[in-house]
Amino acid sequence: MTELTLIATILILFLSYNHTEAALQVGFYRDKCPSAETIIRNEVAKAFVDNRGIAPGLVRLHFHDCFVRYRVFLCQGCDGSILIDSTSTNQAEKDGPPNGITLRGLEVIDNAKAKLEATCKGTVSCADILAYAARDSIVITGGLYWDVPAGRRDGRISKAAETSDIPAPFLQLGEITQSFANKNLSQHDMVALLGAHTIGRSHCSSFADRLYNFSSTGRQDPSLNPPFAQLLKQQCPRNSQGGVSQTDVVFMNQSPFTMDPSYYGNLFQHNGLFTSDQTLLDSQETTRQIAFYATQGLAWQADFVQAMIKMSQIQVLTGTEGEIHANCRKIN
Ligand code: HEM
Repeated sequence: MTELTLIATILILFLSYNHTEAALQVGFYRDKCPSAETIIRNEVAKAFVDNRGIAPGLVRLHFHDCFVRYRVFLCQGCDGSILIDSTSTNQAEKDGPPNGITLRGLEVIDNAKAKLEATCKGTVSCADILAYAARDSIVITGGLYWDVPAGRRDGRISKAAETSDIPAPFLQLGEITQSFANKNLSQHDMVALLGAHTIGRSHCSSFADRLYNFSSTGRQDPSLNPPFAQLLKQQCPRNSQGGVSQTDVVFMNQSPFTMDPSYYGNLFQHNGLFTSDQTLLDSQETTRQIAFYATQGLAWQADFVQAMIKMSQIQVLTGTEGEIHANCRKIN
């Protein structure tokens, strides 16, 4: 190894270590902007009254913000970059394949940001607003409360291509486990986090292949419970081109606005909506964890909180890195 390569390697290790271990703090805005958490909580609560779907939408927004592709020197984890609008010269994360029309809750972040800028200009990052709003959404749907470590700064890069790390719904257990491991999240964390699929909705297009053309066979996925498949087919009928409507949606389970453990019970009935859900029964270890969560809702919620705290610290920018966006849709 030449001297130059050695120095470069040490620098890379130092920078990646710094990003991974970046210290966020609970109560970060206590002195800087004491009403920050209240303002965000009120915006989430207000929006939830009009449309309960914004709660799952905000949780997913935070997950997708954190799971963008990481490259050394370019920390792009939970940095608010999912909120940036595309321009004529840049297609942003928001318009990447897993996002587009499926995202919701963006206007809640805009409203909270406008109030925060009026109260404490240039202080609260969009990345932190997302983390708080995700927590508030879980609480409002009946989940456990936790203190959100904060101090994230906003990123200056948002590229649609960087969303390729966000796992796809057709992936199998080994693939999703690897995807989470790439973000320093264990399989145990992953199984707990996937319980978030107990709230919210999905577009039919996200799982239509399981109904009509599983693995390009033209048949139904044999791992789907037939009555459940029948119900989904009624909600997601084929159109004249043989596909499904891009706008039709289904609830992800029977209680789509309540953080209950029904997601795990559904898997045992083969009522998992995505391949990536149903595949959680493909190992003894994950099956044991699911059986435990299905009956011990509080234990699941406690594990979910721990995993959310870990997830929300993926490759964050802190200190003088990045910036505080004045408008969450634009780089300053
Ligand atoms: C293997 C990992 C995952 C895959 C493949 C996956 C995939 C998906 C897909 C395809 C949808 C439906 C989007 C649509 O068509 O509208 C969805 C919705 C959702 N996901 Fe995931 N997801 C994963 C992990 C997670 C995690 C870790 C969280 C949160 C901690 C999460 C939270 C949600 C929520 C709350 C919704 C409902 C969104 C809404 O109602 O607007 N997901 N997910």
